[in-house]
Amino acid sequence: MKKKILNPILLAWSCCAILFSCGTSQESSNEKNTEMKASDVHTFAQPEEAVVTHLNWEASVNFDLKKIQAIAKLTIKSSQGAKQLVLDTKELTINSVRNGNNEVLNFVLGETQPHLGAPLTIDITPNTKNVVIAYETSEKAEALQWLEPSQTTDKVYPFLFTQSQAILARSWIPIQDSPGIRFTYNAQVSVPSDLMALMSASNPIEKNEDGVYNFEMKQAIPAYLMALSVGNIEFSSLGARSGVYAEPSVLEKAAAEFEDLEKMISAAEELYGPYRWDRYDIIVLPSSFPFGGMENPRLTFATPTILAGDKSLTSLVAHELAHSWSGNLVTNANWNDFWLNEGFTVYFEYRIMEAVYGRDYSEMLALLSLQDLKAEIEEMKAAGNFKDTSLKLDLTGRNPDDGLTAIAYDKGYFFLRLLEETVGREKWDAFLKDYFTNNSFKTMTTKKFIEILQTQLFDAYQLDMEPAIYEAWIYTPGLPDNCPVPVSDKFENVDNALAAWTANQSKEELQTSYNSDSWTTHEWLRFVRGLPDSLSTEQMANLDEAFGFTNTGNSEIFDVWGILVIANQYEPAYSQLESFLVNTGRRKFLMPLYKEFVKTPEGTEMAKEIYAKARPNYHFVASSSIDALLGM
Ligand code: BES
Ligand code: ZN
Repeated sequence: MKKKILNPILLAWSCCAILFSCGTSQESSNEKNTEMKASDVHTFAQPEEAVVTHLNWEASVNFDLKKIQAIAKLTIKSSQGAKQLVLDTKELTINSVRNGNNEVLNFVLGETQPHLGAPLTIDITPNTKNVVIAYETSEKAEALQWLEPSQTTDKVYPFLFTQSQAILARSWIPIQDSPGIRFTYNAQVSVPSDLMALMSASNPIEKNEDGVYNFEMKQAIPAYLMALSVGNIEFSSLGARSGVYAEPSVLEKAAAEFEDLEKMISAAEELYGPYRWDRYDIIVLPSSFPFGGMENPRLTFATPTILAGDKSLTSLVAHELAHSWSGNLVTNANWNDFWLNEGFTVYFEYRIMEAVYGRDYSEMLALLSLQDLKAEIEEMKAAGNFKDTSLKLDLTGRNPDDGLTAIAYDKGYFFLRLLEETVGREKWDAFLKDYFTNNSFKTMTTKKFIEILQTQLFDAYQLDMEPAIYEAWIYTPGLPDNCPVPVSDKFENVDNALAAWTANQSKEELQTSYNSDSWTTHEWLRFVRGLPDSLSTEQMANLDEAFGFTNTGNSEIFDVWGILVIANQYEPAYSQLESFLVNTGRRKFLMPLYKEFVKTPEGTEMAKEIYAKARPNYHFVASSSIDALLGM
């Protein structure tokens, strides 16, 4: 049934990207010859008929009603004979639609489809330049999380943040919500006067008296990068073009954690070309933010769980910063090509970390990735999702969130690393720099990337590119045999310590023979992940006494320890575990813990009890995953 409805969209899309490759006015003939079928099965938009090029957004944020009331004035570019503009919406109430002359336009809000929401089809003529939509969001708006003061860190003011990726922008803006469609925007947002508003745009650095804030995003971006945050937020500068926003009590800690940010930006530019977005700021959100980070342009949204106090989890910042090139400049054309966003970003992230902290450091990250990747492939195989372990996905009729696995990230990373190792870093880096420069503000498909790889890298240096190199990685499930293996002396040392511990070596012996006192977060992660699944209460207690895992302030370490706590029913850590689950909204941490719980009936009971308390703190993207897991 879905197919019937989606096929016309697919067809419509097949020629559109050439006509309006949105933000890219000078398509080369080269592009026309390549696959520009940016067919996106997750949008109703028909950009070949009429495409949005600019959004002027006037919004009022109402915390009492938990609603945004807004006027979206869209500038459109339409084809000859255009009759309709089709937008994506989800749970929006549309109050009126007019053209730029204030004349009423007819519209139909179509039937709601699973995942996609409802198409808003507006009658236009080829002369219609502007469409003005008065609307409001619903309480269920999936991108929005409204926090009571008690759910914030400082507990005094309410807070609102958005999470638009992958297809939730449509739940707060009627827009063409496809990564292949780019538009510029400006906005005027009214908020209670004791709060400040920030967007993925030019931002204020302090509150003003009337609570009205103006924003401008002059580079064209896709809808999934639309973002808004409202709260009692303060700013601290980190350098000439960077800074951090957070609730007052978090600000100092955040500024200290991110003190190497300017170094990261310089390292990134050195590698792959100038930073194109003017400023790079980070906002540390309340703990219910469902992701580690989100690369909203000019303003990364980040979880407070990376504030470990020792800068040890800031590769996440390198990751979101790297998206300023991979993802935000060169954007996956649709969610089946998601690895182009995330695989490139992980690769770039590790190169930034290598440049700033050394190869030893980045190799530890890469080895942890390899471990994640192997585990994920096994898990997906067992769950009957083996075909989703190809880099190129088919998410037709599914939630694009299904593509959010270690495959896009880590298999993508290792494929790019293999290419680097095949041609040598010098050629590879020159190629990547050109790739970002030549494709800035454009969309990319997997097919087009392979063509570029062939012509700009292999042919250019007269190297042979065996199709097998990409066939196995991109179009075949599983992990190819030629996967590079990172090397880390530090992890070898940890592995020896693990073997010794398993052979009953004492804590003192471990400390003296392996110098575990000086281990960093990543060595501890390797250690805890390497412990046997099944441990006695005594063994758990010994480990805990020796290394203080239950009371570690490090969220990543606690998360892997938590799995052992659940698996081995280690009661002394239960209250910490519960408080972690209730106070953390980051899905990457929550899912493995809840999944461990549901392995036994008693665990499932406990999970449900904790979840009843925790759920109000979770964003829709986290609670919808856990609802499904717990069968709610
Ligand atoms: N863009 C992603 C987050 C995302 C992807 C949200 C798809 C919704 C749909 C972001 O850049 C990301 O990858 N975050 C990771 C960071 C990590 C890999 C360093 C996260 O949140 O854990
Ligand atoms: Zn990412």
